[in-house]
Amino acid sequence: MTEVDPVQSEHRGRGVIARYERFLPVSSETPIVSLGEGDTPLIFSPRLSAAVGRGCQVHIKYEGLNPTCSFKDRGMTVAVSKALEHKMVTVICASTGNTSAAAAAYAARAGIRCVVVLPAGKIASGKLLQAFAYGAKVVAIDGNFDDALRVVRAIGERSDFAIVNSINPDRIAGQMTAAFEIIDALGDAPDFHLLPLGNAGNITAYWAGYRQYHAAGNCRRLPAMIGFQAAGAAPVYYDRVIENPKTIASAIRIGNPASWKAAKSAVHDSRGAVDIVTDEEILAAQRWLATHEGIFVEPASAAPIAGLFKCCDPARKPIYPFTQIPESSTIVCTVTGHGLKDPEVMADCMIKLPPVAPNDEEVLKAIEI
Ligand code: F0G
Repeated sequence: MTEVDPVQSEHRGRGVIARYERFLPVSSETPIVSLGEGDTPLIFSPRLSAAVGRGCQVHIKYEGLNPTCSFKDRGMTVAVSKALEHKMVTVICASTGNTSAAAAAYAARAGIRCVVVLPAGKIASGKLLQAFAYGAKVVAIDGNFDDALRVVRAIGERSDFAIVNSINPDRIAGQMTAAFEIIDALGDAPDFHLLPLGNAGNITAYWAGYRQYHAAGNCRRLPAMIGFQAAGAAPVYYDRVIENPKTIASAIRIGNPASWKAAKSAVHDSRGAVDIVTDEEILAAQRWLATHEGIFVEPASAAPIAGLFKCCDPARKPIYPFTQIPESSTIVCTVTGHGLKDPEVMADCMIKLPPVAPNDEEVLKAIEI
């Protein structure tokens, strides 16, 4: 095959760098590695709005519709473009699955190597499949995500590896674009922003994005940032490292988040909160969102939906009771990754299907109508 240059092509697509270049750490020297990420739908949810009541409006930012089906693509386009600009030939990351999928895809696009270090046996099958499909070098370690990140930090000391975890500020910069899009769509920032909290990069990025757009005069208000952790993996909520984090939401199974301090500042400065939701609440919210709004997300992404239900129910003692928020508040929930990434957790809703005769009578009988 002849050599092609995917990054300089005029057909490189309209991703978040093309759209928000002036807010990002790129210049005319930066080769843009893009898969057309961002511009994801902000979907109004009449049912969640009704659950909150008093004229409040709830919107869902559906980040599962990015090129590798998670929000990580926003930061990865910037991190890999910068790695290429700095002539790096290998990117490396630790991951609970989505970062590795995004890193592998953007590295493939850039024509550079990608190494992903994962906790063995802890990655949802769709995400692991993605890392292999995009041609990454995959290493499974006998440890959890926090161990994997420690290893990656050590290897990243070498000058020939670029770390593309969210400890890389280029990742955070790219992820700010989700906040820009929300403001562009709503005409202002929401009053409340709910999202899952794992390694804490995303809450940090959203808050930075909201503030930056505010400083540029693009919105009048700033939202309260409300992060939700799984009850068994809630270091920020409990304010201590969790040695052995446990939750079905494998994406946020993290006991010692890298951006812990920045997340605390985001919550403090925005007058927000961090709360917890149980695995049962997460799975119920995941199913509710799929069957009531047609939005299928992975378990971690359902945490803010479970959290919103908790905030609406004073009996569950939410940290941030929505019964007390002003009338007509605007609320955005970010759902971070697509449900197809983690098919196993939903496997029980696929009932066994004995084939029926190919006629209308038998089919109507089968659906009990
Ligand atoms: N939701 C999903 C689907 C995620 O994959 C992650 C993090 C989060 C939420 C939490 O975001 O870490 O910025 O607070 N996934 C990382 C990974 C850790 O390796 O894919 P965060």
